[in-house]
Amino acid sequence: MKTLATAPTQGLHGKLDVPGDKSISHRALMLGAIAQGKTTIDHFLAGEDCLSTLEALRALGVEITRTNTTVIIRSAGRSAFKKPQKPLDMGNSGTTTRLLMGLLAGTNFTTTLVGDSSLQKRPMRRVSEPLAKLGVRVETTEQGTLPAKIYGGEVRASTVKLNVASAQVKSALIFASLMADEPSQIIEKLPTRNHTEIMINQFGGQIKTAADQRTITVQPKPKLIGQHVIVPGDMSSAAFFMVAATIIDNSDITLTNVNLNPTRTGILEALRKMGADITVTPVENKGEKIGNIRIKAAKLHAITIDAKDIPALIDELPLVALAAACADGATKISGAQELRVKETDRIATVAMELRKFGIDITEFPDGLEIVGSQEWKVVDTQLDSHKDHRLGMMLAVAALRVRTKLTLKNATAIAVSYPNFFEDLELLLKNTKDGD
Ligand code: S3P
Repeated sequence: MKTLATAPTQGLHGKLDVPGDKSISHRALMLGAIAQGKTTIDHFLAGEDCLSTLEALRALGVEITRTNTTVIIRSAGRSAFKKPQKPLDMGNSGTTTRLLMGLLAGTNFTTTLVGDSSLQKRPMRRVSEPLAKLGVRVETTEQGTLPAKIYGGEVRASTVKLNVASAQVKSALIFASLMADEPSQIIEKLPTRNHTEIMINQFGGQIKTAADQRTITVQPKPKLIGQHVIVPGDMSSAAFFMVAATIIDNSDITLTNVNLNPTRTGILEALRKMGADITVTPVENKGEKIGNIRIKAAKLHAITIDAKDIPALIDELPLVALAAACADGATKISGAQELRVKETDRIATVAMELRKFGIDITEFPDGLEIVGSQEWKVVDTQLDSHKDHRLGMMLAVAALRVRTKLTLKNATAIAVSYPNFFEDLELLLKNTKDGD
């Protein structure tokens, strides 16, 4: 049980380089594994999810060494993958699972994927069904969940229309399409994060996205060559401190080298619409856009968020709920049914946990309504992450708003995406206004 910091008197101060982006770290490992030659990854996120990807690729015979946040991969490409000795353990990682389903298409062996109790509940038919259109056979349980078997074999080019807005599904299809003989087209329901497309192009492939931002054309059989990837800071991790600095009086922090890919900056836009004081300074970079973000405390007001806004802030919705709980008025989030199938049912767990602070919050099948308040009243001092990393971090930020002593159950889940979260939070709380 973790005791949480509460009511900092001076606010949060100082500069912080947040850890590497989780989505980009997964993709850098996978691209390094299917490219020829040496790939070096710097500022890699050594969180549990990315380590699940790293170990799975090692089990497929890829040579990978890691020293802290630097990873070196030496590979002869996807054709050199070897049948793993035992089922690959995906841990808690949906990204590892779904992307590997596409990456393992076109091998000449069958692979079994298993996962932890949360991952075993998450839907996999959203990947196996569209992959079937490319001739790729993925067998799940009758409920469409893990364990799953991926049968290697021929990949047939096709046009596939996706009926769920998911970068994981899109990426699986892109990875499989690379193995076909003709170009494939993938049509998204809504634009989602495009790190896979950017990175494949960086490694020498050819992926084009049409002006509608939803139609992706994949040229098959590219010659992918190992690269040097510097992973930008994770917007999804930066977001915890962006909200913390906004809702805690007297705060003034700067987060450096954060990924500013527009498919990921929905939280920035949402907070700005709520009245947050955020200044972004772009930093020159090849590939992904990055920049420094300065955030000062501000008074917030309610906003409305609907389906079209969701993909660019899907992982930050627990934080939008927290910001809304501190804002004037009632914030309505709709079109967010995907939250029901994340590491936990985040509509239910966010509502349950924020109610422990006396917040008036109503659940809908596809979202939440949160009535903001300046007078939080703790009604239960034992918070619970429900083994969901993002929920755990959101609650640690929420705790800063009250004076009551609070504990967090299942705090270790935070290591999935941010192993040093509490140390970094402590740093920002320790700095003073004058002594940054
Ligand atoms: C991710 C895509 C999103 C996101 C997840 C990471 C990725 O999931 O929630 O944390 O790296 O592609 P969906 O594809 O299910 O929306």
